[in-house]
Amino acid sequence: MPLVPMKQMLDEAIKGDYGVGAYNVNNMEQIQGIMRAASETRSPVIIQASRGALKYTNMAYIKYLAAAAVEDNPDIPIVLHLDHGNSLETCKEAIELGFTSVMIDGSLREDSKTPTTFKENVKVTREVVDYAHEFGVSVEGELGTLGGIEDGVGSGKVMLTDPEEAVKFIKLTGVDALALAIGTSHGAYKFKVKPTLDMDIINKVVEKIPGVPLVMHGSSSVPQELIEVINKYGGRLEKTMGVPMESIKEAIKRGIRKINVDTDGRLAMTGAIRKYLGENPDAFDPRTYFGAAREAVYQTVKGKMIDFGTAGHAGDYKPMTLEEMKRIYK
Ligand code: G3H
Ligand code: 13P
Ligand code: ZN
Repeated sequence: MPLVPMKQMLDEAIKGDYGVGAYNVNNMEQIQGIMRAASETRSPVIIQASRGALKYTNMAYIKYLAAAAVEDNPDIPIVLHLDHGNSLETCKEAIELGFTSVMIDGSLREDSKTPTTFKENVKVTREVVDYAHEFGVSVEGELGTLGGIEDGVGSGKVMLTDPEEAVKFIKLTGVDALALAIGTSHGAYKFKVKPTLDMDIINKVVEKIPGVPLVMHGSSSVPQELIEVINKYGGRLEKTMGVPMESIKEAIKRGIRKINVDTDGRLAMTGAIRKYLGENPDAFDPRTYFGAAREAVYQTVKGKMIDFGTAGHAGDYKPMTLEEMKRIYK
């Protein structure tokens, strides 16, 4: 099956009352680890590339790695999604490359640092929606800002989403999915103590607009055991906490349908590589330690597919093409 539009995948998740993980990728081993987990658990999956990933892979590599994932897994619905697009131009590039979904993060200006006004956010998001829907491509918007900074991306300040504004935003922009800020943040250093997230924001939006899938960024759980492996084999990560799995499950119950995970995959790979090289100081074949990293991604993602409730849903529906989506949007 070809890459599928995200709108259909998330609408199906609403019907089936489960969450779909969106996993950040930058290389073949991550994609293979994620796809093995999806195939074994029969899970639909979103693979997403940030602007940093597109730069690192020189664009075309991501396109063809995703094509390889599709060829290798013909019965698993896969979305290729742009994570944190910063402008209409970036979204256009991704659409041209064959992405079936884009995020326009209009909560920040094009510099990906300065928070925008509601009006500015609506304007750029509406432009992207009008453009993307012509191609049948789905659009995720964001209202409110997360804490944490990844590679210079993010304002570093938390501004929780106002539910009333979120409802207005969805109506004014026509987005297919909306990322809410409920207190999570990007990266490994999210919290010092167990966090309290503002879960009521989710309910308030769902009550007013039940059919729109909601998205939670900054959803890595930063498992202690991954930090411990890294530090045991020479790493120096500080004590930190992520989003506990019970909180993610609770958020899914309330209406979150897309769960963004990058950091946990990074930690899993780093730990596996450090461990392998630490235990095998004579190793120099990259396939050995990249293979260990791929296995670690597989294990981590497989657990999430089970916990998010995605497992077992790959065959629930016949995936739509972008051509079919185009007709729906008209
Ligand atoms: O939300 C940000 C993601 O974790 C992507 O991070 O820009 O370093 O690829 P990146
Ligand atoms: P984490 O840093 O928690 O993995 O969040 C990733 C993310 O939100 C990507 O958009
Ligand atoms: Zn994010």
